[in-house]
Amino acid sequence: MDNTSLLQKKRTAYQPSLPSILNDLNHIIFKPVPIKEPLPSLKPLFPKTFHQKAYSLEKGSSTEKKSLKIGVVFSGGQAAGGHNVIAGLFDAVKLFHSNSQIIGFLDGPGGIIQNQWVELSEKKIAPYRNQGGFDLIGSGRTKIETADQLASSLKTVQEHGLGGLVIIGGDDSNTNAAILAEYFLEKGCGCKVIGVPKTIDGDLRSKEIEISFGFDTACKIYSEIIGNIARDALSAKKYYHFIKLMGRSASHVSLECALATHPNLALIGEEKKSLSEIVKEIADLVCRRAEAGKNYGIVLIPEGLIEFIPEMKELIAVLNQAATLQMEDVEKHLKGEQKAFFASLPEKFKKQLLLDRDPHGNIQVSQIETEQLLMELVKKELKKRTEAKAFKGKFSAQEHFVGYEGRAGMPSNFDANYCYALGTLAALSVHNGLTGMICSIQNLKRPPQEWRLMAVPIVHLMHLETRLGKEKPVIQKALVDLKSEAFLVFAKARKSWEIDDSYRYPGPIQFFGDLDLTDSVPFSLK
Ligand code: FBP
Repeated sequence: MDNTSLLQKKRTAYQPSLPSILNDLNHIIFKPVPIKEPLPSLKPLFPKTFHQKAYSLEKGSSTEKKSLKIGVVFSGGQAAGGHNVIAGLFDAVKLFHSNSQIIGFLDGPGGIIQNQWVELSEKKIAPYRNQGGFDLIGSGRTKIETADQLASSLKTVQEHGLGGLVIIGGDDSNTNAAILAEYFLEKGCGCKVIGVPKTIDGDLRSKEIEISFGFDTACKIYSEIIGNIARDALSAKKYYHFIKLMGRSASHVSLECALATHPNLALIGEEKKSLSEIVKEIADLVCRRAEAGKNYGIVLIPEGLIEFIPEMKELIAVLNQAATLQMEDVEKHLKGEQKAFFASLPEKFKKQLLLDRDPHGNIQVSQIETEQLLMELVKKELKKRTEAKAFKGKFSAQEHFVGYEGRAGMPSNFDANYCYALGTLAALSVHNGLTGMICSIQNLKRPPQEWRLMAVPIVHLMHLETRLGKEKPVIQKALVDLKSEAFLVFAKARKSWEIDDSYRYPGPIQFFGDLDLTDSVPFSLK
């Protein structure tokens, strides 16, 4: 039996649309661009890469191309389009010189430390072109941090004689890329380290990084699912659907999906409402809709919401300081109001707050059932209101967590094109001898032909942050800006979505047909 679906086959044949500058890789120059200095506090930590310039790609005179051997690794959670980064990288180095080689490190940065790798050939890459997931070489969350891990990574790249290492990852992984670049320079190793901005969370963003890859596809898949659930709710008229959406910290995914689907309520963590305010807001909505004869609705909940709820944030900070706490010891670490707040939480939720942290010291919000917590608390509140005769409607709720469904989906044209261009840019950056840089593609709301390409020093995106009680250089996560156009459009429209059912049904991602269907860009870029 054929293991490849028809769409899989057709999709491997898709030729990504390219920025016009990439039509001729032999006539590109890297032009230095003035850029603001990084934070002075980072200088002692990055003495060799601190003063680097940013570069913009321009058309220029012909440059001779040499053969390159580059290693590539996926780091962290899956994001649609990753395979196209590898395809773009591979095609570019082979075009530079037929002797060029790409080796893929297996199952994340741990593959570099342990020197687990595979050579990537056209035959291996071909079935993965324009496909989702990271399964060509796998991914992992190991951090290259300790002296031993750094030394093993150096040994690996030296053993292979790598001219470059491309790290495809989010904020923490690109921080790692900057640290490795600095370390290799300090040790006199010529391997260049280039980062590629990946994460469905959309929080690796700055003036130069308009959006990370994977965000568009994940949001389109989630929006399709939300639209389908909304239509079900509208047909059956009996359930409230509490839909938690992935995105470990910032609420970009929820904002994007809200703009695409018009739910009755979409919580945005960055508005920093207290737990009681949120519960009251949902209960008020349920009451008002009941008065309009509607006992159903759609509520979107960002995965990272709990970390923005002020009382929860303080609680998590205390729990993080003592990372390996057992339930019976928790109360000893909490005082006054915090103790009472913790005690007021449902038992299941308390346990979830104590689960193991991820390798970066972050709480694993995808394991915390915020949607259930809110459902329970709203139910309690409505019971009180029913007893006080202030609520006469019905409240029956269904919970959903929409997360892993969207991370490895078949990439939208936007992500397929973006990723292929990112891979090509990474190859050119290594070829031009840059290190400690992140690939930056701008003007993304325009067609790919008009995209502008840059290489930006990673240290430029960094600041110092306390992690597990220690000050560490990290890339600052970009939260939803409450003054951004995307948020303001949402804030203006949301009132009208509360009672009138204005649901939009985006349907599945389109790969064939009108360009405005196949090549749409995220709302938040428009
Ligand atoms: P990255 O930051 O590595 O891109 O991962 C993002 C993410 O998908 C989050 O949205 C989610 O909270 C987390 O990964 C889940 O992690 P895991 O795959 O380890 O369960």
